[in-house]
Amino acid sequence: MQKKNTGKSCKAFYFFVSEYECKINKREGGKETVSCSMVMSVSLNFIFPPPASIVVSAMTVISFVSMAKVGFSEIRGNHLNYSKFWNVNTTGRRQIKLSSKAGMLMLYTPAFLAGFASFWIFPHEGVRSVMLQSALTLHFFKRIIEVLFVHKFSGGMLLDSAIPITLSYFLSTATMIYAQHLSQGLPEPPINLMYPGIVLFLVGIVGNFYQHYILSKLRGKGEKEYKIPKGGLFGLVISPHYLFEIIEFYGVAFISQTLYAFSFSIGTTFYLLGRSYATRKWYLSKFEDFPKNIKAVIPFVF
Ligand SMILES: NC(=O)c1ccc[n+]([C@@H]2O[C@H](COP(=O)([O-])OP(=O)(O)OC[C@H]3O[C@@H](n4cnc5c(N)ncnc54)[C@H](OP(=O)(O)O)[C@@H]3O)[C@@H](O)[C@H]2O)c1
Repeated sequence: MQKKNTGKSCKAFYFFVSEYECKINKREGGKETVSCSMVMSVSLNFIFPPPASIVVSAMTVISFVSMAKVGFSEIRGNHLNYSKFWNVNTTGRRQIKLSSKAGMLMLYTPAFLAGFASFWIFPHEGVRSVMLQSALTLHFFKRIIEVLFVHKFSGGMLLDSAIPITLSYFLSTATMIYAQHLSQGLPEPPINLMYPGIVLFLVGIVGNFYQHYILSKLRGKGEKEYKIPKGGLFGLVISPHYLFEIIEFYGVAFISQTLYAFSFSIGTTFYLLGRSYATRKWYLSKFEDFPKNIKAVIPFVF
């Protein structure tokens, strides 16, 4: 679409909207005004045009809505049953319990394999694709290593929770890589976020690992009790590992620059906001001396 005119009011749109049409209206008395209409409001300067794929479009909505919904459920006290909340609000019926280690390996292995296999399924698709495939594969590989060698678990995980989380990680990884594949040949977004994305991803993954390491040092061999974490960013927020996970996934979205990747990252943010809110409430209920100024996940704010 041709940019016919750039009036003052259109300039505000210009950063976000690459395709718009403006026309000059002449009022009585000869005064000119400019009116603009967005022609394709979804065609953003920093996102690839969404591919014509029903699967990717549906997943864009499903990922965002389902993760945001589960985040709000956490705030309302309906938890996914793993870690501190593995046996909270379980219904009367018999449930299958996995060890935390087995459950966590179940969550991450299919997504890791999807990322790993993508190097063979979609080879030679350019730097951006390789960066996305590498970031996702590395993320899930790191989680598997942490589950095997870093975390010291005390509880379990219910199969009812493990199944939807496993599906969510696997499907979102596969969809993100597939959406990138469908963006091949499309014009690159005018604003390239890939390099800031790589920086965000690295800050996120290193920060996340460091906070996990601090948590693992709270327990000696065989110990199972919970303590108030100290060090790192634990003096500011009770879930700094979630904060770094959020940063990491915005890094992934910036590398990818597809609508799906942003939808998944925003959905993840809502889920982790909800889970961290529930976690802070849990600490307040378990420890009388828990400092009230420690927020959930965003320092000084939330
Ligand atoms: N992308 C997503 O949607 C998403 C969602 C959730 C998690 N994650 C990822 O998974 C990671 C772990 O999440 P999580 O919810 O399992 O974290 P978590 O509940 O904080 O647990 C992490 C580890 O630290 C231990 N731990 C936690 N608090 C402790 C305390 N006060 N004293 C002693 N040990 C403590 C836990 O033991 P117990 O098992 O005994 O509690 C577990 O081994 C996150 O950092 C993130 O990377 C991602």
